[in-house]
Amino acid sequence: MTQVQPLPELYFGGDYTPEHFPREVMAEDMRLMKQAGVNLVTINVFSWAQLQPNEDTWTFEWLDEIMDTLAANGIGADMGTATASTPAWLAKKYPEILPVDEKGLPFHHGSRQTFNPNSPKYRQLSALLVRKIAERYKDHPALRMWHVNNELSHQVNYDYSEITIRKFREWCKARFGACEKMNQTWGLHFWGNNIYEWDELMPPMRTAHQVNTSLLLDWKRFTNECYMEVAKAEIDILREITPEIPITTNFLYEFKTLDYFQWAELVDFISVSSFPDPKVASHPGEAALSHDIMRGLKDRPFVLLEQAPSQVNWRLANVNKKPGVMRLWSHQGLAHGSDGFLFFQWRASVHGSEKFHSAMVPHVGENSRVFREMVQFGQELPQCKEVIGSRVKADVAIVLDYNNWWTVEFTPGPTALLDYLENLKAYHYALFEENVTTDIIPVDRDFSRYKVVIAPLLYMIKPGFKEAVEKFVATGGTFVTTFFSGVVNEFDEVFSGGYPGPLSDLLGLKVEEFEAMKPYVRNSLIMNDGFPGASGEYESSLWCDILQLQGAKSLAVYGDDYFKGRPAVTVNTFGEGRAYYVATLPDPAFLRPFLKQVCAEQGVDPVCETPTGVEAVVREQDGRRYLFLLNHNYAAVDITLPDGNWFDLITEKMMMGRVSMGSVETLILKGDD
Ligand code: GLA
Repeated sequence: MTQVQPLPELYFGGDYTPEHFPREVMAEDMRLMKQAGVNLVTINVFSWAQLQPNEDTWTFEWLDEIMDTLAANGIGADMGTATASTPAWLAKKYPEILPVDEKGLPFHHGSRQTFNPNSPKYRQLSALLVRKIAERYKDHPALRMWHVNNELSHQVNYDYSEITIRKFREWCKARFGACEKMNQTWGLHFWGNNIYEWDELMPPMRTAHQVNTSLLLDWKRFTNECYMEVAKAEIDILREITPEIPITTNFLYEFKTLDYFQWAELVDFISVSSFPDPKVASHPGEAALSHDIMRGLKDRPFVLLEQAPSQVNWRLANVNKKPGVMRLWSHQGLAHGSDGFLFFQWRASVHGSEKFHSAMVPHVGENSRVFREMVQFGQELPQCKEVIGSRVKADVAIVLDYNNWWTVEFTPGPTALLDYLENLKAYHYALFEENVTTDIIPVDRDFSRYKVVIAPLLYMIKPGFKEAVEKFVATGGTFVTTFFSGVVNEFDEVFSGGYPGPLSDLLGLKVEEFEAMKPYVRNSLIMNDGFPGASGEYESSLWCDILQLQGAKSLAVYGDDYFKGRPAVTVNTFGEGRAYYVATLPDPAFLRPFLKQVCAEQGVDPVCETPTGVEAVVREQDGRRYLFLLNHNYAAVDITLPDGNWFDLITEKMMMGRVSMGSVETLILKGDD
């Protein structure tokens, strides 16, 4: 792996396609980029057809000119490998490169990302392309990093071509050895789905009723691996030719098709396309959670490789980022560990489907609010340079498991309303609102660095998790989990003996029954005496587990239904630590004080007290603390800074005590430990 951390500068720029404009526009772009302080642009992402107009012809001259112009202007290139959009001749000459949908219908050439990840021709010709690009630009002074493909698997989540089906059968054969082993592991005897010959096995295509869920899970794992192979094939070539140049590929916001914890191993640093909806009702924790996931993938800073300067073009109605919001959200990214800020796109395109996607330079040109805000942000950014590489301080971790995400949602019943990310958000947002920063970690990360580990809706328990979490709690940690946890193993087979399966001892309880609630139904939690911070009654929805306590203590009981008075929130002492179980989905009015208290018991305090809507996050490095205060309100607020003298990195003034923050304003303050 190339050594890339910390990044040399806070990157700032956007997706750049000067080849789509008259030649003279590039000089104008250079002038405007310098004015804004752009130091990195993403190029060549979708230009395979321009580089290779037919199988025997290569036309690199236009790209040479872009690279030379960037170098002459001191701007770096995040160089795309151009494999994300296949040329028309490729589909015409080798139709096998076209993917097939779950109904068996082929896709046709005509947009982008229309390739079968398992097509040998696609693999062969894309490898040749990547090699040519890498050889040509390996010593070019503008080259800063490689951008592999683009948002892999985004458009074609799953391919059902004959090529892929055959490969899936081989994959299963290698995994299980014999059909009978697979029948047993997946439970294919159910509905008589037994397989006796490998060529009887089908992926989860269009069929009359529901597909076996274990098969579905392994199909998702298989596809994840196929796309990883596509990325790795490119990465291997790039590493061979330019071992010093870091490699990334843009991951997607709130995307569940790929297991990004596995992908993190492939790349040198994580980057992400981040497009939260600027609609007024969206929660500021939404982007924070995505940033926490991205930082957690490699447990290191990451890069916001694509943000919208203002609106996107692919929502039902595309709301603008109001004045100041682009800067605020970029600073929020910096607070949560982003060391780069690039935007889709530099100059608004005049053709095709993204004409009305915002750009750093809109159609109206430089005399625009959006460009002026870019200039302000870009010019200020170098003042934050010392933040690069610093770590976001978090004593609380939330567990995210992609396999769990897949299975908990596709299993028919108990409720189709189960949304893994929404449940994760309930816990993340409650802590976010209390200014308690969280890391997002996989199930197999070392928990010992944390004081509190929260695993909402951890339906699937993988080998090793029980032991790791028991050790964590036994030695003093706090674990929190929820309803519908500890239900199945890594093949989606239910643990016999009742839920929460392997976590029963730790939690000191069994689930006797569960009930899914209709969307309009509510139950309530009635607090028992003695839990500091939370008292009285709170609403709950979605789900109620009916518990038998086997050592755990009840903290709250249900207020309604035939299980009224039965425990709804419990705690179990296990060794030196505690394990909490929340048997329903409580209202935020409960989760906030509950989690605050759970954290307080472990000595985890909020970063600082702030007015509603003001977020506080700390990054730290070498004894220095960077306090980020982000006012997500469209109104000014007054705030009391934590004790000490604080140096404002942007205004370069010292601050202390009570200060005012304008609407959607940020403060980035340096203090000593
Ligand atoms: C993604 C893609 C870009 C562009 C933007 C639009 O991030 O990578 O090419 O289409 O979406 O929001």
